[in-house]
Amino acid sequence: MKTVSFTQMSDGTAEDYALLSEIEAAELARFPDRVLSWLRSMDVPSGYQVTRLEHCLQSATRAHRAGEDEETVVCALLHDIGDIIAPANHSEAAAALLRPYISERNYWIVRHHGLFQGVYYFQHIGGDPDAREEYRDHPHYQATADFCARYDQNCFDPDYDWEPLEFFEPMVARVLSPARLPAPTDPPTGHPDSSPAGAELVNPTA
Ligand SMILES: [Fe+2]
Ligand SMILES: [Fe+2]
Repeated sequence: MKTVSFTQMSDGTAEDYALLSEIEAAELARFPDRVLSWLRSMDVPSGYQVTRLEHCLQSATRAHRAGEDEETVVCALLHDIGDIIAPANHSEAAAALLRPYISERNYWIVRHHGLFQGVYYFQHIGGDPDAREEYRDHPHYQATADFCARYDQNCFDPDYDWEPLEFFEPMVARVLSPARLPAPTDPPTGHPDSSPAGAELVNPTA
């Protein structure tokens, strides 16, 4: 592969950076396939009665069958993509990965779903099930609560007839391309970093 001329970035030329832009564009084009490969790697025992991949497929299938739009279905499919690579803050990792491709609303849902899921079980592990009430007045509170109720907390059923990953692959390819990288002037998307410390850490994988 052709390479740049420099060994430190400060010495790079316009030609060098044009070459890197070309290579990065090709990387972006491969991104949907990489995400799908990562999702396939999550087909391993998780302690639940389904694998992490099966949970994601069940989530996306329920969203699809409920008539949600394609972007929301893909968000359901990928909402736990951070489970393995970022177990301490999996919601934040998934949201960051998806952010250039999805609406501010869906970003907020994915970013906060781990905390919102706590209403179903934080009481069993020494946490506060009402931790999400901090966001009660946020415009996306109800949408996030609904997402968790309909497409997350109930998606651990080994008897549910979920669609295979192949069913969702064209949707992933469409939603994850092209990247709509946030401009530096984009308004903040809420206050995603102000969750109570450790609120999600009590169970990073739901
Ligand atoms: Fe999750
Ligand atoms: Fe989940």
